[in-house]
Amino acid sequence: MGKTIIISNRLPVQLQISNGKINAVPSVGGLATGMKSVHSGGESLWIGWSGLTDEETPHELDQNIDDALKEHGCAKVSLNAQEVEGFYFGFSNRTIWPLFHYFMEYSEFELDFWNTYKAVNQKFADAIIEKSNDDDTIWVHDYQLMLVPQMVREKRPKTSIGFFLHIPFPSYEIFRTLPWRREVLEGLLGSDLIGFHTYDYERHFLSSVRRILGLEVSFNDIFMDNRVIKVDSFPMGIDYRKFKNAALDHDKNQKSDLQERLDSHKASAPDTKLILSIDRLDYSKGIAKRINAFEYFLNKYPEYKEKVRLIILAVPSRSNVPQYQLLKREVDELVGRINGEISTVNWTPIWYFYRSLGFESLIDLYTTSDIAWLTPLRDGMNLVAKEYIATRTDKTGVLILSEMAGSAYEMNEALLINPNNFEQQADTLKRAINMPEEEQMARNTFLQNRLERYNVEVWANEFMKALKQKSSVVRNTF
Ligand code: UDP
Ligand code: G6P
Repeated sequence: MGKTIIISNRLPVQLQISNGKINAVPSVGGLATGMKSVHSGGESLWIGWSGLTDEETPHELDQNIDDALKEHGCAKVSLNAQEVEGFYFGFSNRTIWPLFHYFMEYSEFELDFWNTYKAVNQKFADAIIEKSNDDDTIWVHDYQLMLVPQMVREKRPKTSIGFFLHIPFPSYEIFRTLPWRREVLEGLLGSDLIGFHTYDYERHFLSSVRRILGLEVSFNDIFMDNRVIKVDSFPMGIDYRKFKNAALDHDKNQKSDLQERLDSHKASAPDTKLILSIDRLDYSKGIAKRINAFEYFLNKYPEYKEKVRLIILAVPSRSNVPQYQLLKREVDELVGRINGEISTVNWTPIWYFYRSLGFESLIDLYTTSDIAWLTPLRDGMNLVAKEYIATRTDKTGVLILSEMAGSAYEMNEALLINPNNFEQQADTLKRAINMPEEEQMARNTFLQNRLERYNVEVWANEFMKALKQKSSVVRNTF
């Protein structure tokens, strides 16, 4: 029995060098936080980029970097600054990310980006081939590495290769605009099994395969040469116990500074509801629209002034990409304007934090907030929604969630909204503020049971089980 090799651009930790010392800090984002739980429990090797460019890495630290990653069960693929620019900031985050999130007008089709993306995908494939054996199982993750399955397949025809896409797969009408649509599909089809968060993404993918490559598709099987590629949906879960237990311990442990401050604000205004939003600062998350909707709500229902406070935790992300810089400016200005216009001596309507917080602080925020308000315009899954519910150990709390998030498919008991409908958002906020505790508890009981059952471990096991079944079926047909 071989080992499992996980491969993604982002590793569970990011390395930083300060004063000649290497620090490993946890990565942010659903892929890293979710897969981390799966990886730490098993016998796997995780290959990815350390977060440092070659230019930032003194040669004498090379071994220390390898050792630091090894401690986390990881191995690195080294990238230079030009590769990071074209592959990560370029094709991954200026071409694919906007296109797959339906922001067509943001998507840039640059041949240089594409060429670097191909070259870097080859680097990842080479690293897999170097570090794996034929009987290992390869699990490739996400849109940064869509060519890797085919590149590995060429050298390792018999190896089991699975691919999971953590972002939406867009409809054919959007995907077809990509100049390199054939190559991307062919790259993915090097896999034995391709997984998506939802049935809709799976359907979109199958329709592109049929219409662009003209391949035969039957239910969720794709027939290509002498191979059958399976496609299925596996909605990613969270490490439910970890969040639940952290919330239970949170009440017993000594309070953090953040918790002390949250508590003192609560004590000074006991009937003010705290509304929480947590996202990477990304245009797909609908942060600017959410702030506008909040202003709309306060104008429509002015009786809630001083009775609500919106906490926005926006985590810095991809800040070399112009659209992210523009969004940062937009959000800064919006928060400044709204706070300037409607604050009172006793009340600031929006608390805005532009930083990343550690796990303990996230638990402080989740457990203290009466409402979580998550309004992505498109989101592959959105694990924050699941994490908020998991930490509500007394079963109170209201989740308002965009129906454009993959997680909305499994979270029907949340208050689902269309983020473009301000009227509905304002009315839903009012409803959430006034929701009786019994109703909150009834809704959260269903949600928690489902999250506990379909946790991230079950998700990973189901994917692996399907991959193993698939591989044995194909082998038996030879
Ligand atoms: N997160 C974090 N630190 C922060 C804010 C968020 O580690 O300061 C984590 C959060 O717990 C969640 C992930 O980042 O697991 C975000 O995942 P999600 O699926 O919601 O969105 P993504 O960033 O992957 O688009
Ligand atoms: C999303 C993507 C991940 C990515 C994460 C954080 O969850 O699906 O692949 O790692 O965002 O983004 P970053 O660009 O910092 O890796």
